[in-house]
Amino acid sequence: MQYERFGGPEVLQEVEVADPVAGPAETVVEVEAAGVNFGDIKEIAGELREGPHAAKGPLPRIPGMEVAGRTGDGRRVVGYLRQGGYAAKAVVAERDLAVLPQEVSAGAALALLVQGLTAYHLLRSVARVRPGESVVVHSGAGGTGGLAVQLAREFGAGRVIATASTDEKRAFVLGLGADAAIEGTAEGYREQVLEANHGRPVDIILDAVGGPLLDVALDSLGLLGRLVTYGASSRQAAAAVSPGRLAVASSALAGFWLTPLITRDGAGGRALEELLGLTARGRLRPLAGGEYDMAQATRAHADLLGRRTKGKLVLLP
Ligand SMILES: NC(=O)c1ccc[n+]([C@@H]2O[C@H](COP(=O)([O-])OP(=O)(O)OC[C@H]3O[C@@H](n4cnc5c(N)ncnc54)[C@H](OP(=O)(O)O)[C@@H]3O)[C@@H](O)[C@H]2O)c1
Repeated sequence: MQYERFGGPEVLQEVEVADPVAGPAETVVEVEAAGVNFGDIKEIAGELREGPHAAKGPLPRIPGMEVAGRTGDGRRVVGYLRQGGYAAKAVVAERDLAVLPQEVSAGAALALLVQGLTAYHLLRSVARVRPGESVVVHSGAGGTGGLAVQLAREFGAGRVIATASTDEKRAFVLGLGADAAIEGTAEGYREQVLEANHGRPVDIILDAVGGPLLDVALDSLGLLGRLVTYGASSRQAAAAVSPGRLAVASSALAGFWLTPLITRDGAGGRALEELLGLTARGRLRPLAGGEYDMAQATRAHADLLGRRTKGKLVLLP
């Protein structure tokens, strides 16, 4: 699936291209399934044209940053790549591959890669959650959010509160182990969070909605609280934050982007192994949110943008 101009989901088109060729320290993966991420939508829309997040190379491009499948030497793997995943064959650097335990399906493994590593590092590496701390996860029914809810539990958090936009999604996040589920709209946000946390401000908030929600969330942190911003699904700009505002409750506002961590460490390292192990032992449930024929990638993107999905979406070639 390729796009030759920037735009909405409709610019994705099925094309025949030559097989990709592996360079040094790379492997061709016969793709069983490719993962869909919100970042793919931004890339195709041309929102990542400039700056450190820029996707590389001229158009046309094949999007897709993660695949699961088989290598020529017979390994069943999941692998991260910057682009090229929406295809029957993809080239992945050896350091960005992990071998799958037998118990873990291709769909589950894809959920663990970009979204799982993101949820893992948000909690462990950036917010540095400590036992008993309260955590609010925005978009808790989404791919990243659903794993963050479960990992917060696994990492010893106290009260876990998730936001989701519909009754059905709120029931779903409670089923994942959240203690409370709230709508979490910007209007009335602080009141909703305090009520869900027995009247107290919270220790950690994970946000990828951005805009006005990010602004009000900052006012719901308790002493030494941390808000981590890692995306802007709302596509709204957030207000500037003055250092003085952070000083009031000694709060921290931190950013996060997974790509530099993968560039430094490779995707196939200890964190992914831990996530695969937790899944194989049944302690983490990556959420299969829908399988689409790869030729239906446009529909998968439209569903994700339309907030109609829960969990991880995958494309089958
Ligand atoms: N920084 C990083 O390295 C990194 C890595 C992975 C993901 N991300 C970011 O994390 C976010 C989630 O990514 P994901 O792949 O896991 O997707 P996702 O959460 O499965 O899907 C997006 C969800 O965001 C919520 N949302 C809130 N406002 C929205 C809006 N205006 N339009 C559409 N959705 C909206 C929806 O949940 P409700 O209907 O419940 O509101 C929706 O289900 C994205 O912003 C993505 O760019 C960042």
